[in-house]
Amino acid sequence: IFDAATYILPDAIFALTEEYHKDRYPKKVNLGQGTYRDAFGNPWVLPSVQTGREKLASQGLNHEYLPILGHEKFRLEATKLALGDQLFASLRDQVAVCQSVSGTGALHLAGLLLRRGCKERPTVIIPTPTWSNHRQVFSSLGFDCHPFSYYDEAKKRIDWECYLDTLKRARSGSVVILHACAHNPTGFDPTREKWIEIGCVVKNRGLFPLFDAAYLGFNSGSIDDDAFSIRHFTALGIEVGVCLSFAKNMGLYGERVGCLFIVSQNVAIARNVQSVLEMLQRSEISNPPAYGSKIVATILEDEALRRMWYEDLRTMSLRIKSMRQALYEHLIQAGAPGLWEHLIQQTGMFGFLGLPLETVNRLKERHHIYMASNSRISIAGLNPNNVQYVAESIAKCLKS
Ligand code: LMR
Repeated sequence: IFDAATYILPDAIFALTEEYHKDRYPKKVNLGQGTYRDAFGNPWVLPSVQTGREKLASQGLNHEYLPILGHEKFRLEATKLALGDQLFASLRDQVAVCQSVSGTGALHLAGLLLRRGCKERPTVIIPTPTWSNHRQVFSSLGFDCHPFSYYDEAKKRIDWECYLDTLKRARSGSVVILHACAHNPTGFDPTREKWIEIGCVVKNRGLFPLFDAAYLGFNSGSIDDDAFSIRHFTALGIEVGVCLSFAKNMGLYGERVGCLFIVSQNVAIARNVQSVLEMLQRSEISNPPAYGSKIVATILEDEALRRMWYEDLRTMSLRIKSMRQALYEHLIQAGAPGLWEHLIQQTGMFGFLGLPLETVNRLKERHHIYMASNSRISIAGLNPNNVQYVAESIAKCLKS
């Protein structure tokens, strides 16, 4: 029956992690997958999460099903977090929200909803480069994906001309995928002024903005700053979709906790959209995983725990910023050919180095330094013990 199945290569970033784990070299460095590491290179359980877990355990944790739409307090608190108290208070009844299997699940649910709820199947406009799964999620659901150039490789900045031109020419009703903050992989985000300009075009053209919000608070250390784009677009009075994930900002990678929320034009549409989401969820996973959403709800509901989490966000974002700066300085000291200012202009979890594939491969083969083939590095993989080694190895490979 499966004669027609052809072999598909494993996902590049997960395959790279496996390769790294098999490497026996003691000084190996993993800059591939975007997972936070502490200054000793170890996974970090956030103190707020640890305390939230203890609080949950002390209340007696059971393993009952969640409702199909997910944990009620989690859905409410997560939406409020992204929209901010004021917007949330005024739009609450216009929001449809469904818990999801992290950010990927939220994107997938959004795709199912778009297929089901739109008169015509819309085109999905996707920046290039982008997170590898964007295209895969939407094309596997049968959408026509329209890539546009987000990044000007030569000028090492956002390709504004192409970006705005693409949106201005897009067919009304098209979906545009936006990284709410910490663009993956480039690390270049629009400024507030630019977001306002993009918002104007999106509104005038009648496009549907679908935010991938995987890094709220993790990027700058402040939720308010990182949620600016989402809140601005919502305040424009247009329909907005938001795919939230708590993998990075709470370090809950494996718990798969996130949600999709849609800010609709009115209460009746929100009610219908939510009912569609509930039906779609039932046919996909029945009920979302419980543990992660209980942890998130426990933290967001408790003022002291929430403050502790804000502190954890600052710890992670400051460590990443300091490693970004250290890598830049070591590259200069090592005389690495080229200009490196772009590295410190970027923001978020990733550094987009701009190295040729040949150099990326050489770094792996000769120096056991692993990074994505497009030379995206997860800055969190750097620490005071390996940053100089990484910079000197890059310099060596570029000179040889
Ligand atoms: C990444 O971009 O490395 C992470 O978001 C992990 C993933 O799922 O690709």
